[in-house]
Amino acid sequence: MKQAGVIGAGTMGSGIVQVAAAAGWKVVLFDQQSGMVEKALASITKSLASQVSKGRITQSEADDISHRVTPGSSLQDLAHCDLIIEAIVERMDVKAAVFRELETIVSENCILASNTSSLSIASLAASCKNPARFIGIHFFNPAPIMKLVEIIPAVQTSEATRDLANDIIKSWGKTTVLAKDTPGFIVNRVARPFYGEALRIHDEGIADIATIDFAMKSIGGFPMGPFELMDFIGHDVNYTVTETVFHAFFCDPRYMPSFTQKRLMEAGFLGRKSGRGFYDYSEGAVKPPHREEHFLLKLIFDRILAMLINEAAEALHYGIAGKEDIDIAMTKGVNYPKGLFEWADQIGAPKIVDILDELFARYHDPRYRCSARLRLMAEKF
Ligand SMILES: NC(=O)c1ccc[n+]([C@@H]2O[C@H](COP(=O)([O-])OP(=O)(O)OC[C@H]3O[C@@H](n4cnc5c(N)ncnc54)[C@H](O)[C@@H]3O)[C@@H](O)[C@H]2O)c1
Repeated sequence: MKQAGVIGAGTMGSGIVQVAAAAGWKVVLFDQQSGMVEKALASITKSLASQVSKGRITQSEADDISHRVTPGSSLQDLAHCDLIIEAIVERMDVKAAVFRELETIVSENCILASNTSSLSIASLAASCKNPARFIGIHFFNPAPIMKLVEIIPAVQTSEATRDLANDIIKSWGKTTVLAKDTPGFIVNRVARPFYGEALRIHDEGIADIATIDFAMKSIGGFPMGPFELMDFIGHDVNYTVTETVFHAFFCDPRYMPSFTQKRLMEAGFLGRKSGRGFYDYSEGAVKPPHREEHFLLKLIFDRILAMLINEAAEALHYGIAGKEDIDIAMTKGVNYPKGLFEWADQIGAPKIVDILDELFARYHDPRYRCSARLRLMAEKF
C-alpha cells in the first residue's frame, strides 16, 4: 500500500485526504494548528457516513477508509510518504519554508506537490534542492466530489515526476488535465470573463444582477448565474483570485477587477456565508425580479459567452493546455454545461469574432481584442 502525506487540514486538505484514502492509500495528515486534524477527521467521518446512508459505500468500506488515515504530529511523521500534497495557507514564504524542511525529512523518491490556486509552481519548486520532483496538483472544492484535477509541471519538473503524479491522481479516480504553469492555470483563468464581463454589464447599467443571472441560466444552461456563483464562492475568495490573475498578467485589461465587487468585499458582504452579497440571504428575503425581454437576455449571454470562448482560444493559442483538456476542465472543474470549444463549433467561430469585433469597435478597449487563434478558427470554419 502506498502512502501519501497531506499538509494542511482545512477545506482542501481534508477533502484530498478522503480522496486518497478512498483510493486505498494510507494517508498521514498534518496541520500546525492544534485541533485542525481532529476536526478534519471528524468531517471525513461525517462525509463517509452520509455516503453509507445513501448506499454508495458499505459501513465496512467507510471504516477501512477512516482507518487508513493517520494524524501526524509533526512533519517528521511524513518521512515514509511516496507523495506529499501541501494545502496550507496561500503564501509563498510559508509554503517554501515547509518544502525546504520537508526535503530534509523525506526520501529522494518522494514527489512534492502543492495545491496552490495562484502561486507560480516554478517559484515553489525553486525552494527545493531537487526541483525536478516538484509539481502542482490542483484539486477543486469539494475535492471528494469534483472530478477535475489540474496537473501543473514547473519548468524544473522532470517528465518522470509529471507522469507519475498524473498516473497517481488518475488512480485516485480523478480526471486530470495537463496545464502550463501560468496564472490561474486553466479553470481559474478561462472562467474569469464569466464574472468579469457580467460585472461590466452590470456596472455599465445594461442589466441588473437578476437579469444577467437569468440570461446565463435560461439561454446558456449554466447551473448558476455569475452573481449567484460569486456569492456562493465568496467575494473575498473570488475577488482575490481575479486581482491575483490581473496582476500576474501584468495588468492586462482583460482581467481587470470590478470596484463593485471590491466594495462588497470591503464591506464584509461576502455572499452566502455572511448572509449578504449581491443578493440578500437573510430569512424571508425576496429575490429581485428579472427582466424577460429576449433581445436583452441574448445580448447578455452572447457577450459573456464570446468573452469566455475568446479566453479559451487565447489559452489554447499560448499552449496553456490542449483544446480537449480545456473543454474537460471547464465542464468538470466548474460544471459548465458544454465545453467552450464545443460551443464555439456549434455557434460558429465567425459569429463569436463578430461579437468581439463589435465590442472592440464600440469600446476601443483592448479587453475586447479577439484572439488570433479564434480568428484562425473562424477562417477555417
Ligand atoms: N478553498 C478552495 O476552494 C481551494 C481550491 C483549490 C485550491 N485551494 C488552495 O489550497 C490551499 C489550501 O486552501 P484551503 O481553502 O484548504 O485553506 P484553509 O484555510 O481551509 O486551510 C489551510 C490549513 O493550513 C494550515 N496551515 C497553515 N500554515 C501551515 C503550516 N505552515 N504548516 C501546516 N499547516 C499549516 C492551517 O492551520 C489550516 O488548517 C491554498 O493554497 C489554496 O489556494 C483552495
